[in-house]
Amino acid sequence: MKSRKLLLEHLDVPGIQGIETYVKQGGYTTLEKALKKMSPDEVVEEVKKSGLRGRGGAGFPTGLKWSFLAKPEGIPRYLVCNADESEPGTFKDRYLMEKIPHLLVEGMILSSYALGANTSYIYIRGEFMYVLEILQKAIQEAYAKGYLGKNIFGSGFDHDLVVTPGGGAYICGEETALLESLEGKRGNPRIKPPFPAVKGLWASPTVVNNVESIAAVVPIIRDGGDAYASIGIGKSTGTKLISACGNLARPGVYEIELGLSVEEFIYGDDYCRGIANGKKLKACVPGGSSVPILPHFLVTKTAAGENRLMTYESLADGGFQSGSMLGSGGFIVFDEDQCIVRNTWNFTRFYAHESCGQCSPCREGTGWMEKVLHRLETGKGQMHDIDLLADINKKIEGNTICPLGDAAAWPVAAAIRHFREEFEWHVTHPEEAQKRNYGLIQQPVVA
Ligand SMILES: Cc1cc2nc3c(=O)[nH]c(=O)nc-3n(C[C@H](O)[C@H](O)[C@H](O)COP(=O)(O)O)c2cc1C
Repeated sequence: MKSRKLLLEHLDVPGIQGIETYVKQGGYTTLEKALKKMSPDEVVEEVKKSGLRGRGGAGFPTGLKWSFLAKPEGIPRYLVCNADESEPGTFKDRYLMEKIPHLLVEGMILSSYALGANTSYIYIRGEFMYVLEILQKAIQEAYAKGYLGKNIFGSGFDHDLVVTPGGGAYICGEETALLESLEGKRGNPRIKPPFPAVKGLWASPTVVNNVESIAAVVPIIRDGGDAYASIGIGKSTGTKLISACGNLARPGVYEIELGLSVEEFIYGDDYCRGIANGKKLKACVPGGSSVPILPHFLVTKTAAGENRLMTYESLADGGFQSGSMLGSGGFIVFDEDQCIVRNTWNFTRFYAHESCGQCSPCREGTGWMEKVLHRLETGKGQMHDIDLLADINKKIEGNTICPLGDAAAWPVAAAIRHFREEFEWHVTHPEEAQKRNYGLIQQPVVA
């Protein structure tokens, strides 16, 4: 099944980065339609109807989130776009911003109109400096055309859009840490409540949305919420960007219709074309490094023998025992030569480095897990280290201000659950474990 393209439809049009070409392809007509013919509440209503769920990872319904925004008189409201994208395996927002920057700019103005925000921010990962420059150019072009600034399309709606580089830490992608960082402080997550919808940026009501969520608002308003909802299955509506990496014949960023089978996504000619170099599939982490790993027999089928689909529900089927999550769409594939212990250690090393240190279970626990995993990986571990890992895991999960702790704990728990024998092998074969030259999964360079 070939997927319809709503976000990457004009990807191959030469010059689509620039405003003239974007406008020729129908760009900013949706904004004009909304500003001239729709009330802000009507825009919110269409987004609700579309069933769009936040593409940043948690999958919270976007329209519902918007409807929670407090609207006290005389206090500004803000929309903040989360473009911090630092989750290992996830590189779809960068791709979208780099290739079609005006889709995000149009989505930001449109969404801000719906929320009654006269200023919005794109908080972009600090390392994406070249993408920041692309966005800045797009924003300047939009100002020059009158799509930003005062009285846009004669509607009386004023809007300023600011793009700002992130603080250089994964934790700044957590929405309240992001707001702290945007305010010029250290990016430590806030205790909730109050939620950003009530007290967000500079204590004003704020919506934080992912890049892809905001970009998706443009086709939703263009075609109508019902049309968007007609794509996909059940509560997984519309299309989703998936960044596919690891041992795939054709890694890259794909826009898929939700509901596509995982089998077709991995092996189909329109998608990843199977495992690289004719190797066998060993495991898959389907939603970014924070989600549980699936062993090969649970990747394309659920434990009940149903076809596994690229939807929020199907990927989670089986819960923590035999399921995973769609998460941010960072689809990481491991072939038969990959070492699960080494890759688990590598992910954990990342979380230990990125823990902000506020909560002791996460600060200490991620560090301990990294040490124990390193011990096991290098053939210096003991059998009880495996249970020790599981024990540390339980002490982190659910005991922290933000979900980074859970994000670090789940992958380790799942790796032990499904690949315990491999962990044990590292203990029983210490010399071979030290000698084996394992590869680590790398992110591809996507042109
Ligand atoms: C440690 C951590 C890092 C995160 N990084 C990102 C990120 O880079 N981009 C993103 O959109 N959401 C990220 N999130 C999720 C955000 O907190 C938030 O849920 C999201 O931006 C909401 O947007 P959405 O509703 O459109 O998905 C992260 C969460 C955590 C706990």
